[in-house]
Amino acid sequence: MKHFLNINEMSTEDLTGILKHAQKMKTDRLDLPKGTYDEGQPLSQHIVALVFEKPSTRTRTSFDVGVRQLGGQPMLLSGTEMHLGKGETISDTARVLSRYVDLIMLRTFESQTLYEMAKHSTVPVINGLTNESHPCQIMADIMTFEEKRGSIKGKKVVWFGDSNNVFNSFLQAAEKFNFSLIFSGPKELDPPKNLIKNAKNLKIDFKIDRDPISAIKDADLVATDTWVSMHDNPEEKQNRHNQLKAFQVNEELMSKANHEALFMHCLPAHRNEEATSGVLDGKNSVIFDEAENRLHVQKAIMRWCLSK
Ligand code: CP
Ligand code: NVA
Repeated sequence: MKHFLNINEMSTEDLTGILKHAQKMKTDRLDLPKGTYDEGQPLSQHIVALVFEKPSTRTRTSFDVGVRQLGGQPMLLSGTEMHLGKGETISDTARVLSRYVDLIMLRTFESQTLYEMAKHSTVPVINGLTNESHPCQIMADIMTFEEKRGSIKGKKVVWFGDSNNVFNSFLQAAEKFNFSLIFSGPKELDPPKNLIKNAKNLKIDFKIDRDPISAIKDADLVATDTWVSMHDNPEEKQNRHNQLKAFQVNEELMSKANHEALFMHCLPAHRNEEATSGVLDGKNSVIFDEAENRLHVQKAIMRWCLSK
């Protein structure tokens, strides 16, 4: 079974194959109306369940549109309207869904739920974000970097803020794609010790630099994300703001990066909190290209999952 659960479980060969395929599918349908089928309708007669336990704009619409372009049929399901984990085990839901659909995309809270679904499903499962990771986002980000700047290998990526799910997937990607990754944030929001140890064991070029100015020097890619994620306690907001305000990506900080550096944010953004509007809409920003590339890369991921 070819599940797409986390970047660290994939081979570099499969990951680069997916990126190449995504780029080709993107180029092949340039300027066509968005509802045009891709040639051969490779998902024809396939039904894809898109299950959301958390809100979503990009993941929801890009998977839905992607399935349609591939000639398949998307089925949007809200976790709150299902028996998912409440009144029915995840393993039973996995076995039932597998009888109806050909592929499952799940956005959930605990990664344990995702792994339970994958373990008991007889069709492939794709991770559409958990509290711990967001691999589809990072695949879109690498695709975006490489289409604008060439190979990400050996480049310097700097992450400002909280060591959240998106950061974790960047860390896993640093090993697979061989780029260096700097985390710049307050000690209280450092990556967990086991992740730092694991990065060391895997010889990932990873460092923590709490001085935003030295962290951003020579950066090729600067990334940040909301200071309070969907799974965080909203009451933490004020505290987080106090801890993170020194790590805001603003025009002054961005001007210290390599002048060709790209700025990324997975969105949704909280303008003038983690990044200023000047940066989000500035000349280095590629935030809407990242969002678009979610569509292309997820189509390639779905096709990889369903390939022999
Ligand atoms: N970046 C991302 O996954 O956005 P959504 O939460 O809107 O899906
Ligand atoms: N870290 C964010 C990403 C949203 C796409 C969250 O989990 O809320």
